[in-house]
Amino acid sequence: MDIDLRQRAWRGIAAGMRSLLLLVALAAFSSTGSAGADSGTGQISIVSPPDRSVLETPLASLVVRLQSGSVDELQLFVNKRRVSLPKRDYSHYTVCFDGLGLMSGANEIKVVGMKGGKKVEELKSRVFYRSDLFADASSAPDGFTRYQYHGYQTEKVCMPCHQLDFTAASEGETPAASSPCYQCHKKMLSTYANVHGPAAVWACLSCHNKKGTPKLVAVKPDSKSCFGCHEDIWSPMKYGHGPTAAGSCATCHDPHASNYRYFLRTSAGDLCLGCHEEIATKPHVIVGFSNAGHPVRRTPDPYHPGREFTCVSCHNPHAGSSPVFLQNYDGVAPASDFCKKCHGM
Ligand code: HEC
Ligand code: HEC
Ligand code: HEC
Ligand code: HEC
Ligand code: HEC
Ligand code: HEC
Ligand code: HEC
Ligand code: HEC
Repeated sequence: MDIDLRQRAWRGIAAGMRSLLLLVALAAFSSTGSAGADSGTGQISIVSPPDRSVLETPLASLVVRLQSGSVDELQLFVNKRRVSLPKRDYSHYTVCFDGLGLMSGANEIKVVGMKGGKKVEELKSRVFYRSDLFADASSAPDGFTRYQYHGYQTEKVCMPCHQLDFTAASEGETPAASSPCYQCHKKMLSTYANVHGPAAVWACLSCHNKKGTPKLVAVKPDSKSCFGCHEDIWSPMKYGHGPTAAGSCATCHDPHASNYRYFLRTSAGDLCLGCHEEIATKPHVIVGFSNAGHPVRRTPDPYHPGREFTCVSCHNPHAGSSPVFLQNYDGVAPASDFCKKCHGM
């Protein structure tokens, strides 16, 4: 996760705030839900995400329950940085926000309840954004558990105000405003520059099983859901790359949206190093007298103007005919033929 991405998340929120408060003016709200890390005085509590949650998305929602009339403003800090919140009506029992930007790994969400300019209460929730792409974020500390929000126990708190029965919803293209996912998950798409075909048309249920367990589970393995629309040109290749061969397409591609091309979860230049750190620490491909090895990154690529030169300039990220999946190389011709594609020696 880079800073830039997180800032974008918040810009999106500020822009999208013409809220629907009137809809719920009369809604009642039961008093279950989990407290934050600090027990506090009970004037406010963080309902979602619960303390010590593990999420697998850089965006999270924040739902805070309020005692009637206890606060007239909330302040939010994500990793000690103040984040401005859109306007909400604090006379309600519950206030909801979407699209908190998280960093990969450990995050601290702090909510401060204010009344008349004075601090009433302060609560924290620790959230771990887990990702296979970053060594230090690939497993959560002890005591943290995967947050499974969808399911009757957790959802019932929200049901007075939100529609959470999806059994009759369409699995195909749906206008945004009538998608049952839109209200709570719109920032998953609106935050990013590139949105993936089926997500862009809110066909969320083409990949999330509305009858599955746990509720709304993504169809697995990923490769099956991807190959429903993308031809499988990789399995037949002689050598398959670890995560692609395992069918974990979503490890590298965000199935929904991203600021990077091909919906990559991070830039093509950083993507590979998350799992192959060692490549950056020793000379690669050639060991010359300078001992520097072959460059693995150049912007722009001197041989292919308009592109960046990265690992994928030489390696196919999915599969190939040579053991290291060299691009456009049959694995039989002399290795120099591969080098000539750029160097024309
Ligand atoms: C008292 C009614 C009420 C309850 C209970 C409630 N919500 Fe909301 N929620 C709303 C309203 C109203 C909105 C529209 C945004 C606004 O004006 O607050 C909303 C919006 C949201 C959003 C989108 C926020 C945004 O920034 O666009 C999310 C996410 C959300 N709710 C999740 C939840 C979850 C999860 C629960 C249960 C833990 C829950 N809500 C319980 C009334 C409620
Ligand atoms: C009432 C708000 C709300 C609605 C409506 C909603 N979600 Fe969610 N969803 C959440 C919250 C809150 C989480 C927890 C993660 C987060 O904070 O974003 C979540 C998490 C998820 C997860 C991760 C697994 C889990 O259960 O935690 C999936 C998958 C998901 N939602 C899919 C969907 C799809 C698909 C739809 C539409 C059919 C949908 N959601 C509608 C609020 C909602
Ligand atoms: C092309 C298939 C596909 C489509 C379409 C799709 N999803 Fe997903 N979604 C996935 C997969 C696969 C995962 C699991 C990702 C992973 O394992 O990291 C996922 C994960 C999620 C998560 C959970 C992130 C977390 O906390 O783990 C949410 C929330 C979610 N999807 C919501 C949606 C919504 C809302 C839509 C519609 C706008 C949608 N999805 C459309 C495939 C899809
Ligand atoms: C319901 C059909 C559908 C499913 C399922 C699906 N895709 Fe797509 N995908 C599309 C469409 C439509 C496009 C847009 C094609 C275009 O704009 O050229 C697209 C585009 C892409 C692109 C960009 C390709 C390019 O050349 O720009 C990538 C990468 C991608 N999908 C990956 C995936 C992955 C990974 C999965 C599985 C998690 C998946 N897709 C599942 C329909 C689907
Ligand atoms: C190790 C990371 C990684 C995994 C795993 C991965 N991809 Fe990719 N994928 C990439 C990268 C990087 C690119 C961009 C390649 C480039 O820039 O030339 C890409 C490009 C693509 C494209 C568009 C260009 C093309 O080659 O057609 C599609 C479609 C695609 N991937 C689908 C998939 C599917 C489906 C899977 C699972 C079977 C998958 N990917 C698994 C990293 C990955
Ligand atoms: C999620 C982790 C992950 C990511 C991201 C990843 N790889 Fe891999 N890669 C693996 C695994 C696992 C293997 C199999 C290791 C083995 O068999 O020794 C592998 C094997 C390879 C091999 C073959 C190594 C050998 O000795 O045979 C190459 C080449 C490679 N990866 C290149 C890349 C490139 C280029 C990227 C970026 C597009 C990338 N990898 C991204 C996990 C990853
Ligand atoms: C100039 C083309 C080129 C670039 C750029 C490149 N590689 Fe390689 N890579 C190769 C070739 C050729 C081999 C086989 C070398 C050998 O067998 O000694 C290889 C081997 C590998 C291997 C397996 C052997 C080993 O050294 O561990 C991995 C893993 C790998 N590359 C990953 C990467 C990653 C990650 C990047 C980007 C940081 C990258 N490569 C950039 C051409 C390249
Ligand atoms: C996909 C294109 C590509 C391929 C294939 C490729 N190279 Fe390169 N090579 C580059 C780029 C880009 C540079 C950096 C040139 C620059 O910065 O001006 C470079 C630089 C070099 C250099 C000069 C090193 C330096 O520090 O200036 C040598 C030597 C070299 N390559 C050898 C090879 C060999 C041997 C192979 C085959 C194993 C190969 N290259 C394959 C793109 C490639």
